[in-house]
Amino acid sequence: MGVGWAGVQHAEAYAKLPGVELAGIAGLEEPVRRELAGRLGVERHVAEWEELFADDSLDVVSVAVPTFLHAPITIAALERGLHVLCEKPIARTPDEAASMVAAAERAGRVLDVAFNHRQRGDIQTLRRVIEDGRLGRPYYAKAWWLRRTGIPTLGSWFTNREQAGGGPLLDIGIHVLDYALFLLGQPRVTTVSASTYDLLAAGGFGDAETSDKTGDGGGFDVEDLATAFLRLDDGGTLLVEASWAAHRTAGDEFGITIFGTEGGADLRVVDMEEIGTLKLFSDVAGVAAVTELHPRAGTGHDAVVARFLDAARNGGGGDGAAAAALARVVDAAYTSARERREIALS
Ligand SMILES: NC(=O)c1ccc[n+]([C@@H]2O[C@H](COP(=O)([O-])OP(=O)(O)OC[C@H]3O[C@@H](n4cnc5c(N)ncnc54)[C@H](O)[C@@H]3O)[C@@H](O)[C@H]2O)c1
Repeated sequence: MGVGWAGVQHAEAYAKLPGVELAGIAGLEEPVRRELAGRLGVERHVAEWEELFADDSLDVVSVAVPTFLHAPITIAALERGLHVLCEKPIARTPDEAASMVAAAERAGRVLDVAFNHRQRGDIQTLRRVIEDGRLGRPYYAKAWWLRRTGIPTLGSWFTNREQAGGGPLLDIGIHVLDYALFLLGQPRVTTVSASTYDLLAAGGFGDAETSDKTGDGGGFDVEDLATAFLRLDDGGTLLVEASWAAHRTAGDEFGITIFGTEGGADLRVVDMEEIGTLKLFSDVAGVAAVTELHPRAGTGHDAVVARFLDAARNGGGGDGAAAAALARVVDAAYTSARERREIALS
């Protein structure tokens, strides 16, 4: 469901896999879905998501539509006995996310969430480095996704709080939270202290020139920059930054810097390059050493879809509950920013 950038990634990923038949595509833009259906050899394409459910031969569905539709579509699909792969963020609020996870449990079906950046080759390599103990005990990390002018179409559904649930923290910051906590070995977040700003977008600065997101959000009422300081239950701390608009160097950059007791690591991915710059810092015989790693590119959505289908076929829970936990962290960050205080998570 959905034929924007995300929906196309899903459809193309399913089409590559043996033993998978793409039964239908839903999306409001008729020319786009006609082209996609024609290119991938899909017979059925419809406008509204409800129309797709008229076909009872479906086994799984991907939900890649505006975030306010994630919960209703996911719950309807699970109640029909389908396995669901939902785009990030899982939902606008922790309550919506919890109702999706509960629906998956009731139905005994997989609810997975598309965290494609975690499947990148550089991130997976860095995780193996940490698992191998090369950094010792990681105790502090700073992770970010920052854009100078990267609002995903000012005035689309993305920039409307009611439809999107939030701005860059929920959109790209959720990827950052996901890969940072994955790299750190999934510690639990115990407290959040955050700030959010909307000082640039409110003045019209920051729209991405090439973005063509859909929907009518009627303006901009989310943040354009968020920072969040997280305490972790293993004693470590994590600082997350996410911006769609900021007076910084041009372009788009995400990454992470990790300090550990035996070494450090730094990954930077500029303008969505397939492989980022990944460096390890250590101390060799009392001398500073830098090692640059050259991992292979990962397969992003292809890996996400393959993992999801494997769970659907062979049993496995999917990442729904973990994604719901991230939704609680983001919600705590928004509360913290609004109330100007630290929020404890139980
Ligand atoms: N994993 C990633 O890296 C990534 C990247 C971009 C977007 N996303 C996520 O994917 C989702 C979609 O984002 P996008 O960038 O593709 O948005 P988009 O605005 O480009 O596309 C949204 C699509 O949803 C369709 N849609 C809207 N209402 C519908 C309805 N009632 N029935 C059927 N289809 C409907 C629209 O027609 C459109 O095709 C969002 O949740 C977003 O956060 C994830």
